[in-house]
Amino acid sequence: MIKVGVIGSGAMGSGIAQVGATAGHAVIIYDTNKSALEKSKSALDTTLKKLVEKQKISEQKASAIFSLITYADDLKSFADCGLVIEAVIENLEVKQKLFSELEDIVKEDCIIASNTSSLSITSIASACKKTNRVLGIHFFNPAPLMPLVEIIPGISTDKNAVEISRKLIDSWGKITVLAKDTPGFIVNRVARSYYGESIRIAEEGIADYVNIDWALKEFGGFKMGPFELMDFIGNDINYKVTETVWEQFFYEQKFKPSFTQKRLFEAKYFGRKTGKGYYDYSEGAENPEPQKNEELGKQIFNRVIAMLINEAIDALYLNVASKEDLDLAMTKGVNYPKGLLKWGDEIGLQNILKTLTALQDEYGEDRYRASVLLKKMVKENKKFFS
Ligand SMILES: NC(=O)c1ccc[n+]([C@@H]2O[C@H](COP(=O)([O-])OP(=O)(O)OC[C@H]3O[C@@H](n4cnc5c(N)ncnc54)[C@H](O)[C@@H]3O)[C@@H](O)[C@H]2O)c1
Repeated sequence: MIKVGVIGSGAMGSGIAQVGATAGHAVIIYDTNKSALEKSKSALDTTLKKLVEKQKISEQKASAIFSLITYADDLKSFADCGLVIEAVIENLEVKQKLFSELEDIVKEDCIIASNTSSLSITSIASACKKTNRVLGIHFFNPAPLMPLVEIIPGISTDKNAVEISRKLIDSWGKITVLAKDTPGFIVNRVARSYYGESIRIAEEGIADYVNIDWALKEFGGFKMGPFELMDFIGNDINYKVTETVWEQFFYEQKFKPSFTQKRLFEAKYFGRKTGKGYYDYSEGAENPEPQKNEELGKQIFNRVIAMLINEAIDALYLNVASKEDLDLAMTKGVNYPKGLLKWGDEIGLQNILKTLTALQDEYGEDRYRASVLLKKMVKENKKFFS
């Protein structure tokens, strides 16, 4: 079994190391911050004890996982790894510097991956002399619990490196999907309008946060409404992803961030972790209750779901992923109740087109333009899945 290296012992790196060790690999984690390494080790100890208490794993398994992970403060420890996954801060220069150092340390056949959420894999790989073994292996948070992993080849990644990585991550019990190296890959691109369109509805004064959250849970079956979910993810992280995706799409209108989100970010109203976001999480705080207006709720749901389905269709049109992988990504990566393409078939693609056309007529904005593929499918009376 190959040895796995993980760079960065924060939330993602620690989770990825746990997943690798649970699958039986010896794992080394490296971090420049010694206290982050210590924190990672003690958090793993707590997690494993809880899993034993809940009878999810045996005591033997827990101690096996614990002893398979070693903590290093020198990148040279990665010399005999077969795969290294980088999960340091989301900063291109930092990642590029690491990759160029790393390639001189690891073996010839070692695969080097980044867990980046929003940076281009090709740009990270460009720091290396040998770019064909560099790819994206994108886990979701928390890595031990979320089943989806996006596999992203850069422009010069070898097919072989992609196949080996996919097989390996599949053997860890994860569900892998293949995504093109485009901003946000699958999930962080397609999910943008769940937040963006909901904020827009709130900014226009059509409904407030709590009623929009209620509408999407009630009529869409989403586990969390967009505002609850943004507060859960953290408005700092969500805002940064939104901004990066928009910039990387050459300022494409449909991905444009909102002032609402920016102001929350500036005020450090990050959500649950700071006690305040769209909602107030301080002790004894009272948040509003939804009025549950069915007609308005359905309108809100129709508008947001049309935007989401249109984006999934556009991603398919632009070959970001296969239709199967697009639907898997949204159900397994962000827990959507249904795959968006299948959902589009069910609602009726002609209805999605009608909603978008009405929105574009009303607002005259490019963000509501229907995907070429959606128009084509409606014209030819086709469905994505029969
Ligand atoms: N948090 C999420 O929800 C999430 C989900 C998927 C992917 N990601 C991506 O995973 C990566 C890590 O995110 P995170 O949330 O775990 O971050 P984090 O801030 O929790 O951890 C980052 C760690 O990297 C360490 N670090 C910084 N520079 C370093 C360097 N040069 N060498 C070694 N270690 C270094 C820091 O000390 C820190 O411990 C980012 O690229 C992020 O975009 C995050």
